[in-house]
Amino acid sequence: AITPVLLCGGTGTRLWPLSRDSYPKQFIAMQGELSLFQQTALRVSDRASYRRPIVVVNEDHRFIAVDQLQAIDIAPATLIVEPVGRNTAPAAAVAALHASEQDGDAKLLLMPADHVIEDEAAFTAAVTSGLEATGSGRIVLFGIEPSSPATGYGYIRQEQPGGSAVSRVAEFVEKPDPVTAERYLAAGDYLWNSGIVLVAARQLLSELERHAPDVVTAARASLVDGERDLDFLRLGAEAFGRAPSISIDHSVLEKSDHASVIRVRCGWADLGAWSAVWEIGDQDAAGNVLAGQAVCDDSHNCYLRGEGILVAAVGVEDMIVVATEDVVLVTRKDSDQNIKQLVERLKQEK
Ligand code: GDD
Ligand code: MG
Repeated sequence: AITPVLLCGGTGTRLWPLSRDSYPKQFIAMQGELSLFQQTALRVSDRASYRRPIVVVNEDHRFIAVDQLQAIDIAPATLIVEPVGRNTAPAAAVAALHASEQDGDAKLLLMPADHVIEDEAAFTAAVTSGLEATGSGRIVLFGIEPSSPATGYGYIRQEQPGGSAVSRVAEFVEKPDPVTAERYLAAGDYLWNSGIVLVAARQLLSELERHAPDVVTAARASLVDGERDLDFLRLGAEAFGRAPSISIDHSVLEKSDHASVIRVRCGWADLGAWSAVWEIGDQDAAGNVLAGQAVCDDSHNCYLRGEGILVAAVGVEDMIVVATEDVVLVTRKDSDQNIKQLVERLKQEK
């Protein structure tokens, strides 16, 4: 069986003001009733194929994670609590160390908690078909056919493009610049990295040892200094703080020659920014998505969301308006990536 690792320590600033430090996007119900984190946990809840998940969460959000899992009747195997965010490589390293203590042959499925997947059956089939390759030390990625030159993703060039079989990764480039992304899209043999990784815990650790040894040293020490606290496994703060802040993509995937990829068509979408939320939303005939309390007239292709306050728009196009109790965000759809900078500026000025 596979051990899912739910990575839910991100901050999701581009979905501000709904996504806050105190309550980041993966814990919010963006569409429907369940949060992205809950949807992720349910995706791997079939105990015939998956063990109980390891959850790696930031200290500030540990009770949110517990409550949300309880609400969907999922009992995690371990909740690992990070004292600080150090990006995904240290989080994955502690999960891999912990899992391989329990079972030397553990197979991990690293699951980011900020996606939607419409076709769960196709996703499960892809995971199943990738499992064998992990036995021979492959790091199995799941590739999505790109639909735009997005710069927020990793790009994967396959050795044998075309099929949906497991193919070796010829090249992995995390978050290319716009010109490079355009080139990859035009070349036609690149896939987006979905961020989901299937790998033997031991193999992940040996790749990290090789390409980012400081990550493993800090992760190991943080487990040694760690302590049990209620349902949580709290990492030693000082030791974990010494880990470099680096993603699994930059530390391992760009460098490893053990990566393989499976192309999957499962209705995958990354809800990284408001335009993506608009895109997968319930668009009316004029292309508007209205969420919470919102109305509009003579408007096209807008995302309007009022939380406890009414958003009303007339005669506008391609706009995003998100109003919460204390903030009203107004932006054009094509500027939504820049919200991050604005939020950072606000934090500094505070
Ligand atoms: N536990 C923990 N600790 N989780 C974290 C941390 C951390 O410090 N930082 C991020 N995460 C979680 C986020 O909550 C998210 O669910 C997941 O790890 C991925 O992190 P992101 O910060 O959202 O990564 P990204 O979107 O920029 O890029 C990744 O995902 C893309 C697809 O959505 C990369 O894997 C790209 O290559 C990929 O294309
Ligand atoms: Mg993301």
